[in-house]
Amino acid sequence: NDFETILLDRHGRVGVITLNRPEALNALNSLLMTEVVAAVEGLDHDPGVGAIVITGSERAFAAGADIKEMQSKTFAEVYTDDLFTQWDRLSAARTPIVAAVAGYALGGGCELAMLCDFIIAADTAKFGQPEIKLGVIPGIGGSQRLTRAVGKAKAMDLCLTGRTMGAEEAERSGLVARVVPAADLLEVALEAATTIASMSLPIAMMAKEAVNRSFETTLAEGVKFERRVFHSTFATADQKEGMAAFVEKRAPKFVGG
Ligand code: HXC
Repeated sequence: NDFETILLDRHGRVGVITLNRPEALNALNSLLMTEVVAAVEGLDHDPGVGAIVITGSERAFAAGADIKEMQSKTFAEVYTDDLFTQWDRLSAARTPIVAAVAGYALGGGCELAMLCDFIIAADTAKFGQPEIKLGVIPGIGGSQRLTRAVGKAKAMDLCLTGRTMGAEEAERSGLVARVVPAADLLEVALEAATTIASMSLPIAMMAKEAVNRSFETTLAEGVKFERRVFHSTFATADQKEGMAAFVEKRAPKFVGG
C-alpha cells in the first residue's frame, strides 16, 4: 500500500478503496484525489479485478472537497488548473464501481459517491450539496448527476438550501440503490461487488456502458445502442457458457471472453 490517504485491499476479484483521512472526515484534498484516481485506474486495468468498492469510515464517506486547501485559491488558479477535472477520469473506468456510504457524504463526497455506478448506503448516511453555504456551487458534477438521480425538485432543494438528506429519503428519491444497517454496510457492498465480479467481465462492462449511455443520448438511439451491444454479446464464449449452463441446470463458469 503506497498510498497516504487511502487504503487499497483485494477481496478475491474485488478491489476495495477506503478513504482514509480520519482527521478531516475524509475531505477530498488533491493528494486523495490523485490517489483515488490512480487506484481506480490500476484496478480498472487489472483483468483479475471484476468490481471495485469505494468506501469511507463509519462517521464519514467524505465531508466534501478540502475547504482548507481550496480556501485561498484565486480564480486564475482554479481555472487554469481546471480544479477537480481529474475526477472525470473515474467516469472513464469500465469496471463496475460500488460506493458504500456511511455517515457524511457531503459536497464532493456526495459527488464522488455519484461518480460510482451505484450507492449502497448505511442507515446513518447523510447526503447533501452544501456548497452554497460556503459561497460556491457543486464542482464535481453534483448539479448534473444529482438532478439526473433525484429530479429537479429535490436537486434544487438540496443545492439551494444546502440541507442534508438521510438514507431513507435518498433511497426513496432514487439516489441510493439500497439502505442497510450500518454494521452490515461493508459486508453487503462486498457481497454485491463479489456477485458482479463473478459475472463475465466484458459483459458486465457492456451492461454498465449501456446503462450509462441512457444519460448521454435519446431513447431511440439508446435502445439501438443497447441492441447492437446485446448482439455483440453473442460473439463471446461467455454468452454460450451462460446459456448452456442454464439449459444444463448448472452454474456457469465465465472465462471473461
Ligand atoms: C476540510 C474538513 C471538511 C472539509 C470536515 N473537516 N469537513 N476539512 N474540508 N470539507 C474537518 C474539520 O475542519 C475538523 O478539523 C474535522 O474535519 C472534523 O470536523 P468537525 O466539523 O469538527 O466535525 P462535526 O462537528 O462532527 O461536523 C461534521 C460536518 C462538518 C457537519 C460534516 O465537518 C461540515 O460541515 N463539514 C463541511 C461540509 C461541507 O461543506 N462540504 C462541502 C465542501 S465544498 P479540525 O482540524 O477542526 O479538527 C465541496 C465543493 C466541491 O465539496 C466542489 C465545489 C467547490
